[in-house]
Amino acid sequence: MSRVFSMIQPSGRLGIGHYLGAIRHWEVLQAQEHDCLFAIANLHAITVPQATAELKQHSLDLVAFYLACGIDPEQTTIFMQSDVKHHAELAWILSCITSLGELNRMTQFKDKSQNTKRERIGAGLLFYPALMAADILLYQTNLVPVGSDQKQHIEMTRDLAIRFNQTFGETFVVPEPYIADTGSRIMALGDPMKKMSKSDQDSNNYIALEDSGRLIQKKIMRAVTDSLNSFCYNPEQQKGLANLIDLYAACSHEDVESIVARYSGGGYGQFKKDLAQMVSGRVEEIYANYERYRRDTAYLKEVLAQGAINANGIADQTLAVVHERVGLLL
Ligand code: AMP
Ligand code: TRP
Repeated sequence: MSRVFSMIQPSGRLGIGHYLGAIRHWEVLQAQEHDCLFAIANLHAITVPQATAELKQHSLDLVAFYLACGIDPEQTTIFMQSDVKHHAELAWILSCITSLGELNRMTQFKDKSQNTKRERIGAGLLFYPALMAADILLYQTNLVPVGSDQKQHIEMTRDLAIRFNQTFGETFVVPEPYIADTGSRIMALGDPMKKMSKSDQDSNNYIALEDSGRLIQKKIMRAVTDSLNSFCYNPEQQKGLANLIDLYAACSHEDVESIVARYSGGGYGQFKKDLAQMVSGRVEEIYANYERYRRDTAYLKEVLAQGAINANGIADQTLAVVHERVGLLL
């Protein structure tokens, strides 16, 4: 049985990218009876400014979202990152074997800091990958299911695990990323050159969890395609259409070839209609579950309390070994 670990930041609106890129796979791995832990990355969220009350709300929103997508607290550990103090401590220890060069090369850091003067960039934003490595390594994780934007961070996690093991002796499992072929990078509906993101200025570019069925249908019908009017999967020349086919494949669990075979010869209209109906149906279903869970704050807190007990138990064991290896125990 493999250990599976992943997290999402409670930093705002939830979108279909989170579901298709990450949580959809969590559910599959959970059903395969892996030992799963899924957490709320609130320590990561504060690497950019967050309003106190909103951070609390968004953290509970995310727990409700996990449950609504089928993550089952009876089978899986769901917890808040800040409820396990070991994350911050291991991040510190790992940062001591991490170079500034490695941190500077991370594309997410470059993206998130590009509009800020270098002197003003928060150190937490730069250190973020060391915290992420700590999250993963604390639980002796085998598999990390994420969207493809996280690949570089996981490679760095692997490097740190190998470096630590070589320096101090075998301590950490070296984790593997789990990134699906389709749906691991859903692009913006109006601009298929950039990632679909809930923080996009133009709300037509993303599908949010709280979007109504009608709004989702409208957004998909006006999504950018091309004027070739030839139904092919061609990410080079028909990026917009390829993105919609990816969306279809991820939602329906079908492969790209059979979708193309079904729609080839026709225009894009019917395909878009079918896609819109499928996506809106799935989102509405998740949203209805979400609202039900979100009303019961006491239950969400109970799930987190139990999750924190499980997670602390595992993290205690790993950190005791780390202390011993590094020489922090006398
Ligand atoms: P974040 O909001 O950055 O914490 O992202 C949470 C998870 O959702 C990560 O595994 C991301 O890779 C994934 N994700 C976010 N946006 C997308 C997207 N547009 N396509 C695929 N996966 C995504
Ligand atoms: N960096 C991830 C993101 O932005 C969130 C995250 C933090 C994470 N720690 C993690 C994902 C550990 C997987 C494993 O999406």
